Amino acid sequence: KRKIIIDCDPGHDDAIAILVAAAHPGLDLMAITTVAGNAELEQTTLNALKVCEIAGIGEVPVAPGAGRPLVRNREAAPAIHGSSGMDGPVLPEPSLRAAEEHAADLMIRKLMESEGDITLVPVGPLTNIALAIRREPRIVPKIQEIVLMGGGTFGNWTPAAEFNIWADAEAAQIVFESGAPVTMIGLDATHQALATPEINERIWALGNRVSDFVGELLLYFGRTYKQFFNFDHPPVHDVCSVVYCIDPVIFDCRFLNVAVETKGELSYGMTLVDIHGVTGRPPNMTAALGLDHGKLWDVIIGTLSRYGEG
Ligand code: BDR
Ligand code: CA
Repeated sequence: KRKIIIDCDPGHDDAIAILVAAAHPGLDLMAITTVAGNAELEQTTLNALKVCEIAGIGEVPVAPGAGRPLVRNREAAPAIHGSSGMDGPVLPEPSLRAAEEHAADLMIRKLMESEGDITLVPVGPLTNIALAIRREPRIVPKIQEIVLMGGGTFGNWTPAAEFNIWADAEAAQIVFESGAPVTMIGLDATHQALATPEINERIWALGNRVSDFVGELLLYFGRTYKQFFNFDHPPVHDVCSVVYCIDPVIFDCRFLNVAVETKGELSYGMTLVDIHGVTGRPPNMTAALGLDHGKLWDVIIGTLSRYGEG
């Protein structure tokens, strides 16, 4: 089983990422850590706990981390995720509680205890990962891989920048330059991960409590993606990083150089993906530039079906 820690800011697509990570037989979800991003930290942590509760994920610690970015001011994304960060489905207050340990400390502890076989899966701003690397640089050679959702050759939150990188570009820079093996699942790939009507039908047809919850998440997410971006179908960005850990062959990947802009007035948070090798800078990460829609959804839907098996 592949050991992973999900670092997230739920978030509709973050929630789906957690659900697939917890139920797929090929993954061992060791912890969920939370960060401010789509909403403030208290809210993203509460949302993570609610997701765990509805899915019966009781044994995985949920550890809150950074409540604000390293340098810049905090800005959330209520236009996409609502003011709670996960508007739409109505969930009861969870009885599960968050861990006392800070997200960065938990990651450091788990990595230092490990045999170098833990993959970090950040699907929100990279603040917690950057904090962990700065606090304990000896974790870097212990990280098997960082499979992050963020960046790409174009933006969404600004014309230049994708939300997770834009929300804390200084943290992204620390992660990119850390020397740890990084795989960037950016918008080029995730904008192909669309929940089309045919996909929604297959999800509702599963008919279990968790798949119904995913159906409701996608209804809300689909509406805001239409209103804000004029997308016909919403892209489920974050679960793509989890599916990459399960079956990387589903993604079209290139090993190349990616730098992040932290100074630009109009381009803060832009990822400069050197597709043609024009910078002369050596490749520093694997970047996903596309994916197989059918295979991706077969993995997601197949995993969600497991929640119905008593
Ligand atoms: C990313 O931003 C967030 O709103 C989503 O959860 C995803 O992680 C997409 O740009
Ligand atoms: Ca997210």
